[in-house]
This record gives sequence, structure tokens and C-alpha cells, in this order.
Amino acid sequence: MIVAIDGPSGTGKSSTSKAVAAQLGLSYLDTGAQYRAITWWMLNNGVDVADPDAIAAAAGKPSIVSGTDPLAPAISADGVDASGPIRTQEVTAAVSAVSAVPEVRERITELQRTIAAEARGGIVVEGRDIGTTVLPDADLKVFLTASPEARAARRNGELKAADGKPVSDLAATQQALTARDKADSSRKTSPLKKADDAVEVDTTELTLEQVVECVVTLVEKAAAGK
Ligand code: DC
Repeated sequence: MIVAIDGPSGTGKSSTSKAVAAQLGLSYLDTGAQYRAITWWMLNNGVDVADPDAIAAAAGKPSIVSGTDPLAPAISADGVDASGPIRTQEVTAAVSAVSAVPEVRERITELQRTIAAEARGGIVVEGRDIGTTVLPDADLKVFLTASPEARAARRNGELKAADGKPVSDLAATQQALTARDKADSSRKTSPLKKADDAVEVDTTELTLEQVVECVVTLVEKAAAGK
């Protein structure tokens, strides 16, 4: 059972994907964390993240290793735990530029396909291009959406938890999210896009529990139809 969950940030993708995987005994892969980890490594290793050629040349260098336990998600770059630092605003500001470079996407996509193929019993993979590009034969594709206001409010809460520092106001968060969505949706290589056969779920008015219940039901239906 391969489940692809795509959508922009702040739609509840990570919380939903982890909870669905945990409830159904599936593995879990956060592909945004992989792009963040390679970005973090580049920032720490003197790669100019404003230069696509420099990013492309460094794309194959770090080893990026993802844990797939939904209850203990883990990510490392060259053996160093990156779970905390990948959530900083510095990484968030640079990740769209790094993830738009085709050499980076090829490298990370290959890792994602290997992890999905090796996951025994199935996996929930969350990202932006999982249903369209990485795993087009997934058994179920879900595309999560939410209003810009709801997404900014959720993202503000997460940023506080991750950095431990107060974040900018809601309007600034909403502006940053919109800019990142635009970059992620308009890039040439596998942009953020709903797959034609994905089920769209608008989470604006739903609690996390309701979204999880909805996706679990969709997975059970997909499993029954296999
Ligand atoms: O989900 P997130 O905010 O952690 O993702 C970070 C960035 O990584 C996001 O701005 C776009 C990129 N990304 C991507 O290009 N493709 C994916 N499958 C997942 C994330």
C-alpha cells in the first residue's frame, strides 16, 4: 500500500501523514525534510544557494538518510542529525531555490523511490510531487488544501514550536507562505501540482482528527479495491 499525500505547507500534511501511517502500521517519509536537509548541508558547507550551478555541482555530495518510523521521524545529512536545524527560518528561506534545481530533484527522487520500494507493508509519502512524479502508480493519492489564512495560522504555531523563538506576525507568515507556494508551483521541474487522479481534501474547516479519519477511510477503501 503506497499512499501519496501532496499539497502546500500549512495544510496539515505532516501531522496527517504521520497519524495515518501510525494508525495503519505503515512507514512514513517526509520528503520536504529531505529537501530541507540537503539545503541545510549546502548552507553549512559554503555552497552559494543563490547560484543554481553551484547547487547542481553539490547535489550529489551529502548522504541524506531518512528514518521511516511515523512515531520517531529522523533525518541526517552526512551522519549528522538535522531534525532540529532543518526547521529554522534560514533553511525555510533557501529551500525553494535549492529544491528547484533539477540535479537536486533527481538525486532526492531516486532516494524516495528506493525508500518506498523497500518499505515492507506500505508507506505514506508526503510532499509536493509524489502523486505526479515520484510515485505516479501510488495506490492512493491525496491532495490537501486549506485557505491561506488557516495555513498561515498553523505554520506560525509550528515555527514557534520548532525554533523556540517568537515568529513574525501572521500577515508576514502568510506572505512568506504565498511566496514559497508560488516558487514551488511555478518551477520547471515537477512543480507542486494536484495529480489528475488525486482526491482533494480541503482541511480549512476540519480538525486534525477529522482529516486523519477521512484519509484513513480513503486508504481502507483503496486497500479493499486492490
Ligand atoms: O513540506 P516542507 O515545507 O517541509 O517542504 C520544504 C520545501 O521542499 C518546499 O518549499 C518545497 C520543497 N519540496 C519539494 O519541492 N518537493 C517535495 N516533494 C517536498 C518538498
